[in-house]
Amino acid sequence: MSPVGDARAAKVRFQCAEAIVEIEGDLVHKRRIEKRYRVKEIDERIRRERTKSEAKLISEARRKGVPTPIIFDVNDYELVMEKIEGDLAREVINEDISERIGEFVGIVHKSGIVHGDLTTSNIIVGADDRIYFIDFGLSFIELSTEARGVDVHVFFQSLEGTHESYGQLKESFITGYKRTFPQAAQVLKRAEEIERRGRYVER
Ligand SMILES: Nc1ncnc2c1ncn2[C@@H]1O[C@H](COP(=O)(O)OP(=O)(O)O)[C@@H](O)[C@H]1O
Ligand SMILES: [Mg+2]
Repeated sequence: MSPVGDARAAKVRFQCAEAIVEIEGDLVHKRRIEKRYRVKEIDERIRRERTKSEAKLISEARRKGVPTPIIFDVNDYELVMEKIEGDLAREVINEDISERIGEFVGIVHKSGIVHGDLTTSNIIVGADDRIYFIDFGLSFIELSTEARGVDVHVFFQSLEGTHESYGQLKESFITGYKRTFPQAAQVLKRAEEIERRGRYVER
């Protein structure tokens, strides 16, 4: 997804299927957009719940020691949060960054949170050199090996798509993940199984 609009304007705008994200000054507004194929009342309830849930889990992750944007305001369908200065992990990832991502994902999982969309486009390497996790719109609380395995699998897939030294970045992630998360081994094993299932389905 690339920003839309005039590069000289103060406002930068991203639009995906679920939300419009506007960056203005130090603030990010993320507004969940209407889905016309859903019954209006249900659509409004879903958007309100996802907005609240995203705010809650972003804050919860930060309380556990994982850098995330500070939430300033939660309205019906809109979050107002801190703008993180930096680059998407997708653009700048290296072995050191991948290992630190692994450490934080271990903390996220240990805290009972599953990110739900753990790609290098949802991780920002801050100008302050910290690693920030964003986009908790599909996150949920769950302790299962399967849900954690899907997170790890999705992360590995996002590495595969954009990076040449895929194998090394994956190993670095694993080193970090094992350091902070006692159940890492079983989740990594499950992530491999999920990958095999995926390949089977594609054939
Ligand atoms: N707090 C933030 N600070 C800086 N950039 C952000 C922030 N939140 C979102 N963005 C930018 O907007 C993009 C889309 O936001 P995201 O929360 O990932 O929504 P989506 O559900 O559309 O993927 C991100 O990939 C990132 O480039
Ligand atoms: Mg995103």
